[in-house]
Amino acid sequence: MPVMLDSALPSDQPSPATQSGEVGGVQVFDLHPVEEDFRETILTCLQQQPKAVPAKCLYDKRGAELFVKITQQPEYYPTRTELKILAEHGAEIATHLADGVLVEYGSGSSKKIGTLLDAVTKAQRPLPAYVGLDISQQHLVESCEALASQYPGLATVAICADYTQPLSLPEISALRGKSKTAFFPGSTIGNLQPDEAVAFLDNVAQLVGPGGGLLIGVDLQKEKAILEAAYDDAAGVSADFALNLLHRINGELGANLDLEQFRYRAFYNEAVGRIEMYIESLVEQSASVGDVMISFEAGERLLTEHSYKYSPDGFAALADRAGFEMTSSWVDAEQLFLVAYLVARGQ
Ligand code: TRP
Repeated sequence: MPVMLDSALPSDQPSPATQSGEVGGVQVFDLHPVEEDFRETILTCLQQQPKAVPAKCLYDKRGAELFVKITQQPEYYPTRTELKILAEHGAEIATHLADGVLVEYGSGSSKKIGTLLDAVTKAQRPLPAYVGLDISQQHLVESCEALASQYPGLATVAICADYTQPLSLPEISALRGKSKTAFFPGSTIGNLQPDEAVAFLDNVAQLVGPGGGLLIGVDLQKEKAILEAAYDDAAGVSADFALNLLHRINGELGANLDLEQFRYRAFYNEAVGRIEMYIESLVEQSASVGDVMISFEAGERLLTEHSYKYSPDGFAALADRAGFEMTSSWVDAEQLFLVAYLVARGQ
């Protein structure tokens, strides 16, 4: 059945969600997130100094597939470690979520949400409702439909929105009067600059309200060699993933970038505690992107992403700036990854 879209316009205000339809037991709302124009973004980013592109440009269909492949590489520990922590401490985590609504930021990490829902079911504390937030409507509706059919007692709500912008939940009976916990796995918080991370957490605090919770996955600071291997695996999947951006620019923007003349680099900047990912030009060269000529110096780098790593105390301090108090946290035996539960303070 096609999803019926309403015609509300995006605005700067937290948009009240208007219902768009119901598909496969999922209530669907569309806040009409503004998707950036790829050509405009790329041309601006390639003409600035230093060159840098927003990480989301890496996730076309092939990019998303390659990222899944990264998470399966032996060196890339974050995904499997976070899953292990969620599974091992599920019973305790379930006590924090009890009787409330779980709001997942970036719906679709289906294994993680499944692990969590199985834990609350096992602890006999089933959740009354789940809300998935994602910018990609198709992906969002598909993953919510799958959840709705797998967990029949769970009221499932899909909200198509850009979760980096302030937003409020729809006033519907499935959500009204219930406590809320946001779920933000994957250490995606690390891909934001610290000030952006505080602004994001502040939006989350507004959404869950005083006393509401946040369950979040955070990658920890550790030995440089472990981090650099995780972001530049031996099989070369990380490199393929990053260089896929050039492939995408060629295909979608009619460019003639020579992929052989670039390489991928990932460094851990210990002083600031972040992985820096670049595409580096091997030679001095230029290429046309549509009708614009872009040139590169030999060795010039194009920044694709930062991935900040925190200490447990460092993350608690960051979250505190957004009004969140870390009340519980779980770390694996090797201290690679942190899953934290935080509570939003009252105003
Ligand atoms: N969000 C991922 C992370 O910070 C992004 C990522 C992992 C990535 N490996 C990469 C981006 C390799 C570019 C290249 O963990």
